[in-house]
Amino acid sequence: MKVICPGSFDPVTNGHLDVFKRAAQIADEVTVAVLVNRTKSGLFSVDERMEILREVTSSLPNVRVDSFHGLLVDYCREHEIQAIVKGLRAISDFDYELQMAQMNYRLADVETLFVSTNPQFSFLSSSLIKEISRYGGDVEGLVPQAVLERLPAKFSDTM
Ligand code: PNS
Repeated sequence: MKVICPGSFDPVTNGHLDVFKRAAQIADEVTVAVLVNRTKSGLFSVDERMEILREVTSSLPNVRVDSFHGLLVDYCREHEIQAIVKGLRAISDFDYELQMAQMNYRLADVETLFVSTNPQFSFLSSSLIKEISRYGGDVEGLVPQAVLERLPAKFSDTM
């Protein structure tokens, strides 16, 4: 089975990485796909996010990294991907995720499989990582080393 883990990954967190690893254990091929949002520039460019994702998934031979724009289901159809894999951190994620899962199934019969986030990462989000880093807080253990190394340069002129 081919599955996809889509997201903004600005930046990827250890919670995301946990989902990739678990998806890689159940699927033949996992595509980690970065959404290219033309109306919103992120902290990291899409190229930087992909470079980091390639680095942190290099030990997972059945994981590939790509980017996409437009509808996720179109990417799935084009690449013969049967299912989307998402992490659910808490019940607060559920409403929105269920809505997207139902819409994606309605649009193209693409299934969504939910992985319950490891509780040690259930409070984690890319936005919180950015906010904490911006003000000099410590995010060690919450993001991969590849992100940790790149964060200070992103905020060097705001501190
Ligand atoms: O990490 P994010 O930003 O929460 O990921 C959201 C993402 C990329 C999974 C979602 O926004 C998405 O699938 N966008 C692509 C456009 C699309 O297919 N929209 C219809 C969803 S039902």
